[in-house]
This record gives sequence, structure tokens and C-alpha cells, in this order.
Amino acid sequence: MTESVSFPQDRTCPYQPPAAYEPLREASPLSRVTLFDGRTAWFVTGHAEARALLVDPRLSSDRLHPAFPTTTERFAALNERRTELLGVDDPEHNTQRRKVIPGFTLKRTAALRPMIRRTVDGLLDAMVATGPPADLVTAFALPVPSMVICALLGVPYDDHDFFEEQSRRLLRGPEPADTQDARDQLDGYLGKLIDHKVREPGDGLLDELIEDQLHTGGMDRTELVRMAVLLLVAGHETTANMLSLGTFTLLEHPERLAELRADASLMPAAVEELMRFLSIADGMLRVATEDIEMAGTVIRAEEGVVLATSLINRDGSVYPDADVLDWHRSARHHVGFGFGIHQCLGQNLARAEMEIALGALITRLPGLRLAAPADRIPFKPGDTLQGMLELPVTW
Ligand code: HEM
Repeated sequence: MTESVSFPQDRTCPYQPPAAYEPLREASPLSRVTLFDGRTAWFVTGHAEARALLVDPRLSSDRLHPAFPTTTERFAALNERRTELLGVDDPEHNTQRRKVIPGFTLKRTAALRPMIRRTVDGLLDAMVATGPPADLVTAFALPVPSMVICALLGVPYDDHDFFEEQSRRLLRGPEPADTQDARDQLDGYLGKLIDHKVREPGDGLLDELIEDQLHTGGMDRTELVRMAVLLLVAGHETTANMLSLGTFTLLEHPERLAELRADASLMPAAVEELMRFLSIADGMLRVATEDIEMAGTVIRAEEGVVLATSLINRDGSVYPDADVLDWHRSARHHVGFGFGIHQCLGQNLARAEMEIALGALITRLPGLRLAAPADRIPFKPGDTLQGMLELPVTW
């Protein structure tokens, strides 16, 4: 068993799991890693084991638990604050989730498709009007989900520079103080917005939550603000990374891209395969609250557990030729959106955004290509959500 590999590590290629995890992949399904603070944690790479653990109530998501594994000093600082949903166990988690789930049903998401389409078309019109080259992150990958989540929640998009910057500092610091301050700024901003909406209601999901939860005592102001921060940050940072890294990956796999251009009906399968292949949320964290027998060993109470998304999604016993990008495989049951009670609340929305945005991008810009050598384009470090820092393109 390997004891010396540290987690997290940077990827060497933005769409491949870090090369340094190779010994851990070989040690599948369970091995151990060392965290930044010297603590060790279990590292789960087997698909069956991961899915069993993600539905096991003996694993907790409570970030306030003293033994909860942390990946950087920044996130350790953040873990002193409570995170709604993502950081809460059942039964409280279930109570919270039921309050927000009406905003994210399949039906509700389907109704947003025309708005997503208009948003995507508007951004592509602007890119075409300005002409090449462009940075696809700022021109497209970030504004699509940012505009969509603003419209859904009822947050003014005019404030996007502010909340995108604070989300960036929240997730990537660089200093722990940045992360703390960014969380204060976001709490302050959404608190003020909610107070304003109490006085002058609008028609977003936050307005519905004010009406249905705040005014009925279902949620207090602090809970609503924390929930709003989670939805706003999770709603744009994640999908933006999928759009930037997804486009980069398509441009690096011209045959797969040609297949998609020739047959648009492949797009839903392509989105699922990209979710599997890219695993942008590369590492879900838990702490054991009781001993758990798993794969011939015992995860002891108070031990940290890292579920290694990128390796779980490339478990060869479930996905033959797992390192090959293939629209014709069944990518079903990937854990790119998690699994179990915390499985992504926004997954229907994210799928709709990815299908519409990637589909329109490759159709409307048939000559799309990288405007810099692939190995010079900067991507995100391993201690945060994976994605491109910038994506220079031309067409
Ligand atoms: C492609 C884009 C996305 C990816 C890859 C993604 C990934 C994930 C993952 C892996 C989890 C589970 C984390 C865990 O179990 O520890 C999660 C949870 C969550 N996601 Fe997403 N997400 C995406 C888009 C979105 C969007 C658009 C929203 C909209 C608001 C959203 C909101 C949430 C929320 C609220 C949770 C917590 C759910 C809970 O704890 O019950 N996500 N997401």
C-alpha cells in the first residue's frame, strides 16, 4: 500500500488525471494519501467501492468535524464556516434539500432551455461581431453559466464582475485570507440582495425562497444567505470549467469533434462522456463517523476519505478502454456529479447548458481552433475545480 503520494496534485494534461496518482490507480480500489497538513486519508479509486461509500450514512460531509480532511490551508480556514447542503448530513440535509429542489427539477430546467439558447446565441453573436481571436473563457465559458444562474436565481448580471471575482478568490485564494474575505463579501452581497428583494420582490428562485421559506419560518435569513452563496458559486464556476475544458478537449480530439459536428444527436452522450472523462470536481471529501469494512480493510471512525473522481470514472472494470474518449460507450453511472444524497442539485441545468452551449459553439464556428500551442495554455492547479485559466481560440 502506498503511503507517500500527496493529494491533491496538479494535472500534467488538463483532461487527464494527475500522472502522480498512477501508483494509487494501480493500488485500486483503496489506498492512502497524505494531505497538505501531514494528515493521511483513504483514497478511493474503485467505482463500486466509491458508490457504496457515497450512500453510506457512516461517512459524513460535515466540514465542521475536527477530523474532516482538508486539501489546502485555504479550505481549512473556510471549513470553520458552515456550508448549507454540501456540508450537512441527513436528516438535516434532506430537510434543506427539499426546500430548494423545486427550483431544479427536470421540468423547471426544460423551461429554461429557450433562455439558455438566447444567452448562448447572444454571446456567439458578440464573438462573431468582434472577430477572432478571443479568450473563450471570458467570452463564452464563464458568461454562459453566469448569466443563466443569475436569471434563475434573480441575481442582477450587472454585478457579475464582483461575484465572479469573489468566487475565484473563494476557490483559488491564493491566500487563506482571500478565501475568508471572499466568503464575507459574498455573504454581504447576497444578504443585501435578499433584504432588497424582501422589500421589492422579483421573480427569481431567491424570491420564491423568500416567499415560501423565509416568510413562513422554513429558513432564517442566515440560512437563506448561505444557500444563495452556494447556489451562485456552484451554479457558475463548475459549468464554466466544463465548457472551457470541454472545448479544449474537443479541439485536441478532432475525430471526436468531427463526429459530433456530423451528428448533433450524439451531443447528450458526448456531454455524459465529457463529464466522465474530465472529472472537473476531482476529489469528494468525507470523514468516517464509525468503522466501515471496505475491500478487505477497515476505514476507522475519524479517518478522512477522499473519493478520487477522475480515477473512479476511469475504473477499467466499468469503462473498458477508460482512457479513451468515446461517444458510443455508456458513460452512465459516472460520479462526475457525485452520487448519493449530495449528488449535484444542478445537474439537469448543467447538462442543458453544456448541450446547448457546446452544440452551438461547434456549429456556429466551424473553423474553431486553438490560437496558441496546446501545451502553453494555462489550466487550473490541482487543489481546486479543474478547468482552463484561459483558452485562446480563433476561427
Ligand atoms: C458541470 C457542472 C457541475 C459539476 C461537475 C458539478 C459537480 C458536483 C458534485 C461532484 C457534487 C457533489 C459533491 C459531493 O458529494 O461532495 C455537486 C453538488 C452540488 N451541486 Fe453541482 N456541479 C455542477 C453544476 C452545478 C450547477 C449548475 C448547480 C446550480 C446551482 C450546482 C449546485 C450544486 C449543489 C447545490 C450541490 C450540493 C448538493 C447537496 O449537497 O445536496 N451544481 N455538484
